[in-house]
Amino acid sequence: MTVRHLPVLVREVTTLLSPQESGTYIDATVGLGGHSEEILKMIGQNGRVVGIDRDAEALKITSEKLRDNRLLLKQGRFSEIEDLLRSEGIREADGILFDLGVSMMHLKEPSRGFSFHSDARLDMRMDRTQEFSAWDVIRTYPEKDLIRILKEYGEEYRAVRIARAIVNYRSTKSVDTCSELADIISRAIARRGKTHPATKTFQALRIEVNREMEELREGLTASLKILKKGGRLCVISYHSLEDRIVKNFIRDNAKYGVLRALVKKPLSPDIREIRENPSSRSAKLRGAERL
Ligand SMILES: C[S@@+](CC[C@H](N)C(=O)[O-])C[C@H]1O[C@@H](n2cnc3c(N)ncnc32)[C@H](O)[C@@H]1O
Repeated sequence: MTVRHLPVLVREVTTLLSPQESGTYIDATVGLGGHSEEILKMIGQNGRVVGIDRDAEALKITSEKLRDNRLLLKQGRFSEIEDLLRSEGIREADGILFDLGVSMMHLKEPSRGFSFHSDARLDMRMDRTQEFSAWDVIRTYPEKDLIRILKEYGEEYRAVRIARAIVNYRSTKSVDTCSELADIISRAIARRGKTHPATKTFQALRIEVNREMEELREGLTASLKILKKGGRLCVISYHSLEDRIVKNFIRDNAKYGVLRALVKKPLSPDIREIRENPSSRSAKLRGAERL
């Protein structure tokens, strides 16, 4: 599969990371390698980039695309960043980038079961070796837990109606495909504006399946153990739940003299970038320096 992929806020990320000749940079969400490629252009022969991703398919595409002996690719979750680096004898880094969420490949490949237009089985696992999928959530979660994740991770105020509709449907037939779930939701609640009524539910499921909020908290904490003094942390988030965690993490660590925020307000794509890459529109970049 070929996916046209444009990395988000590249100029801003490289300005904040400020890659040095012989620096070690961790791309904790290497995906299809867009940001890593730019960092590789800026470092010298003695520099290196470690690209981490939990998705083996993304790593395969990136290893074929970016053939560079300064790039080391590792499969795993970024919450395990210390172990992943230790296994390569790396103990510290000059910069770490987290570009959160799913990649275009996940959204555009119907068989991955992320998109509500797809007739594929509900899935949404970023790591396909993981057993637990969106199908399990919809099949097994009690109504109250469906309501909880829809409210918490989808910020969906119509959670009760949606959860009830799912529970009613599954009492006679299992909810198997993405489009089946999207139809159940479309029948339960009215469309508001241009956004598909299932958007927030799908976001909530994806976050639950991949434990995205826990991963983010653990990944940020682990990054502090690896960053050298003067090293830079950059995080791109795509929704308010993620951005809140990042904002509070930087603020709290700044209070204790562990980090210094590099920007007061998060950086966002300009009109030109949004026009060229509409999926960048919700991106927010925050950066901090390790003190
Ligand atoms: C927005 S994409 C990154 C795109 C990348 N910056 C590029 O330019 O191609 C996010 C990537 O992070 C990966 N990912 C998300 N959560 C992860 C986690 N907890 N650990 C490791 N990888 C993760 C996803 O599989 C996905 O490939």
